[in-house]
Amino acid sequence: MATRITVYEVGPRDGLQNEARVVPTDGKLALVAALADAGLTRIEATSFVSPAWIPALADSAELVARLPARPGVQYVALVPNGKGLARLLEARGKASPASPVDAAVFLSASETHNKKNVNKTIEETFRAFDEVIGPALAAGLRVRGYVSTAWGCPFEGAVDPRRVAGIAERLLGLGCWQVSLGDTIGVGTPNQTREIVGLLAPRARPGSIALHLHETRGTALANVLAGLEAGITTFDASVGGLGGCPYAPGASGNLATEDLVYMLHGMGYETGVDYGKLVTAGALAQELVGRRLPGRALQAELAGRERAARAAEAKA
Ligand code: HMG
Ligand code: MG
Repeated sequence: MATRITVYEVGPRDGLQNEARVVPTDGKLALVAALADAGLTRIEATSFVSPAWIPALADSAELVARLPARPGVQYVALVPNGKGLARLLEARGKASPASPVDAAVFLSASETHNKKNVNKTIEETFRAFDEVIGPALAAGLRVRGYVSTAWGCPFEGAVDPRRVAGIAERLLGLGCWQVSLGDTIGVGTPNQTREIVGLLAPRARPGSIALHLHETRGTALANVLAGLEAGITTFDASVGGLGGCPYAPGASGNLATEDLVYMLHGMGYETGVDYGKLVTAGALAQELVGRRLPGRALQAELAGRERAARAAEAKA
């Protein structure tokens, strides 16, 4: 059993892209700093997609230029095409070299979701990646790949796991160091997870497959367990359970980072994350978006903190 698990934090990007309230750049930077201070070493900070499509992350150039320098932390920005990469490289040039920013590309396993999300067919999307993956690698960035709707599509329903495996292998072949399989709408069950991972993992480098699960129907942690048993060592999660894809109806509820870390620590895995500081980052995320976040561990710990504060007050 692996003892070290990487928790890949997507809240600042996947979470905030979907929020009705646009968080000011300073607030986003404070959240990123709190997550880094909690010990998260991979943080997806923003995206360089079209600001017309994702207005909440229109400040990505400023954000990247001002990312807190935290040696050992790897930041990532989502990039859909050559224009996005050019914008990332320019912003990156202004950032501290102590906090490098890598790129991530994304596409869906189902044509309809892909079209709605990036206005391209899957093949056209791969052609756009020619402007991203090779040039990013040549510029010294690492590139991660996402395969969305891997467990099911909001428009097409069931997705063939062999199709998911084929797209993931193609991304790895193009030079992605890791591919994250996305249960974008949170429909996955552990048997499916075993099937998808079982098709891919034996043929992929150790550590090159990650899972990006959603808690929409309460199955994300069960899928994490299935992934752990199949040898997966990287799981994506979003602080407080923020987020979802704005182009996938019903895609609420990324797996909450606190829920994931709580379970992993309880099972004896090491993550390098300080759970108490992570809860503090979750409280900040909640304050920034102005609503109660769905993460269950976060809510349990915050309620515990409130009870303890009241008890201390009563004693004083
Ligand atoms: P399009 O409208 O087809 O783009 O959008 P276009 O190439 O026709 O260009 C139209 C205009 O957009 C042009 O400007 C371009 O320059 C501009 P104009 O000449 O009209 O002034 N443009 C850009 N501007 C800034 N940055 C860019 C860029 N590209 C073009 N990079 C596009 C195509 C891909 C750009 C658009 O569909 C898009 O941005 N989509 C992103 C949607 C998105 O971010 N979705 C959420 C992320 S995916 C996700 O959340 C799932 C994941 O978490 C995994 C999971 O949960 O499963 C990863
Ligand atoms: Mg997502």
